Amino acid sequence: MASLLQKLLLIIQLLFVSLVVATNNSSIILPAGGCSDVCGSVHIPYPFGTKSGCSYDDSFLITCNNSLNPPRPFLPQTHIPIINILLESGELRVDAAGFVSSECSEKQGQQRIAKYNKTASFKTSNSSTFPLSTRNKFTTLGCRTVGVIAGEKGKPYHTGCVALCEKAEDLNNMSCSGRGCCQMNIPRRVIDYNIVVAHFVTVEVEDKLILEFDPCGYAFVVEEAAYEFMVSDLKSMERKTFPV
Ligand SMILES: *[C@@H]1O[C@H](CO)[C@@H](O)[C@H](O)[C@H]1NC(C)=O
Ligand SMILES: *[C@@H]1O[C@H](CO)[C@@H](O)[C@H](O)[C@H]1NC(C)=O
Ligand SMILES: *[C@@H]1O[C@H](CO)[C@@H](O)[C@H](O)[C@H]1NC(C)=O
Ligand SMILES: *[C@@H]1O[C@H](CO)[C@@H](O)[C@H](O)[C@H]1NC(C)=O
Ligand SMILES: *[C@@H]1O[C@H](CO)[C@@H](O)[C@H](O)[C@H]1NC(C)=O
Ligand SMILES: *[C@@H]1O[C@H](CO)[C@@H](O)[C@H](O)[C@H]1NC(C)=O
Repeated sequence: MASLLQKLLLIIQLLFVSLVVATNNSSIILPAGGCSDVCGSVHIPYPFGTKSGCSYDDSFLITCNNSLNPPRPFLPQTHIPIINILLESGELRVDAAGFVSSECSEKQGQQRIAKYNKTASFKTSNSSTFPLSTRNKFTTLGCRTVGVIAGEKGKPYHTGCVALCEKAEDLNNMSCSGRGCCQMNIPRRVIDYNIVVAHFVTVEVEDKLILEFDPCGYAFVVEEAAYEFMVSDLKSMERKTFPV
């Protein structure tokens, strides 16, 4: 009994000592030799850093582009802008506005003709250092629209979401429950996604009517609390922000 207790105490002491050392090195000593903890208006706390030797390792090395005004930080080895870093909650928020998949159609005679489409391909890093939070949702907007999301790095997955509606009066602002807007969870530990969105009925009488308020379909990942569906989003998603 006594020796077991002693072992446990020893383990606790060792844990305590290594915690103290880690704290000492990480938060107190570090920003010595010309390390900056800001990039533009964004706070960049250790273990992140903007210069080699200032971050915990290269996977935390943020690119601060000083030729932009104001300077902007980007995720390591990507062109994905960082919005903020909250160490307390273990969150790093990026702006995924460049990763919205879309498809738009126009009426030509009696037919709905595809005019434009765009897929989206997003990867946080090569490693699993920055998995997507499960507070993000995969969102699809449209009236006969299917959005498909798939990831291959880390843990492979693929799934989809279908948004339907018959007429404008069926749609409600701030209600994303399948009518014009469909939302679903994404799995844990995902580090990348590819999104395709498509309209799945083409030649129909109702389609001509729907086109008036639903010329486009969209699919994207967004932090759940940061996105409210608006009926006008079916026409244009411009100037929306997409924190992930
Ligand atoms: C703390 O810093 C010292 C000196 O820079 C280094 O030798 C040691 O490995 C560091 N310890 C940890 C836990 O990082
Ligand atoms: C802890 O920090 C102090 C003050 O910077 C330093 O003198 C000491 O060597 C550090 N201890 C370790 C274990 O790194
Ligand atoms: C910084 O931004 C400018 C302007 O967009 C761009 O031309 C340049 O390549 C960027 N630099 C880095 C290191 O990403
Ligand atoms: C998207 O556009 C490309 C080229 O314009 C076309 O080949 C492809 O079939 C379109 N995909 C869909 C789903 O409409
Ligand atoms: C990520 O992958 C690319 C291409 O495979 C490679 O060039 C790059 O060095 C990798 N970065 C890291 C941090 O492993
Ligand atoms: C949705 O909100 C917009 C802007 O606030 C408003 O003009 C529109 O009438 C609303 N639509 C519905 C169906 O509530």
